[in-house]
Amino acid sequence: MRQHVNPLSHFFQLEKDLPEIPELFENIDLPIHLDIGCGRGHFLLEMAASNSQWNFLGLEIRESLVVGAEKDRVKLGLNNVSFLFCNANVSLKNWLRNFGKNKVKRVSIQFPDPWFKQRHRKRRVLTPSFLFLLAANLDTGSELFIQSDVQSIMSEMTSLIDLSKYFNSKFPDSKLSTISNPFPILTEREKYVKSKGLMVYRQLYYRNNNDIK
Ligand SMILES: C[S@@+](CC[C@H](N)C(=O)[O-])C[C@H]1O[C@@H](n2cnc3c(N)ncnc32)[C@H](O)[C@@H]1O
Repeated sequence: MRQHVNPLSHFFQLEKDLPEIPELFENIDLPIHLDIGCGRGHFLLEMAASNSQWNFLGLEIRESLVVGAEKDRVKLGLNNVSFLFCNANVSLKNWLRNFGKNKVKRVSIQFPDPWFKQRHRKRRVLTPSFLFLLAANLDTGSELFIQSDVQSIMSEMTSLIDLSKYFNSKFPDSKLSTISNPFPILTEREKYVKSKGLMVYRQLYYRNNNDIK
């Protein structure tokens, strides 16, 4: 049983300085795929191994998972993926403003919230301000991919994204449960959910050209 942390605790509300792009990747000219709440990093490690034309950056609030993912990265000799320990809701803002604009071309938020009870709602990753931050730092056409096995969380995320008017769905007419994964690699949670025969809800968006207001 993995221990969760409380992202609202004082420690996790302190902003961390995240490294600049040249410290993260060998080829700094490649587009970046940002995975928020990357867990143990298996998804990104496999994506990086099979996609040399992208850089991959995983953010994770549980330090031990980041340490493990970094060890694997070194073992595999991958220079187009990095893992950072931080509370994405707190520490991504400055990094995106300083380095990420026009660089991050894809964001994924996959099975984001281990705390899906209503009373833990304030801990959610995709808050209005976090979505606004992404919208403000993604170019037109950049992608936002979300998936979850918890229907209520998925419908909160899709309602928020639709209300924002900054993203359009690539599959506006499909039921969320019928949209297939655009990536060939399953995340750790996705493998578990699949092994239990549970439903996965997904949506793929692209940043439209609505100006930030
Ligand atoms: C249910 S797990 C899913 C992990 C992975 N995405 C997957 O699909 O296997 C959710 C992950 O998000 C991380 N997480 C939750 N809130 C976060 C935050 N504010 N910043 C960074 N990571 C966060 C958790 O620690 C956890 O590892």
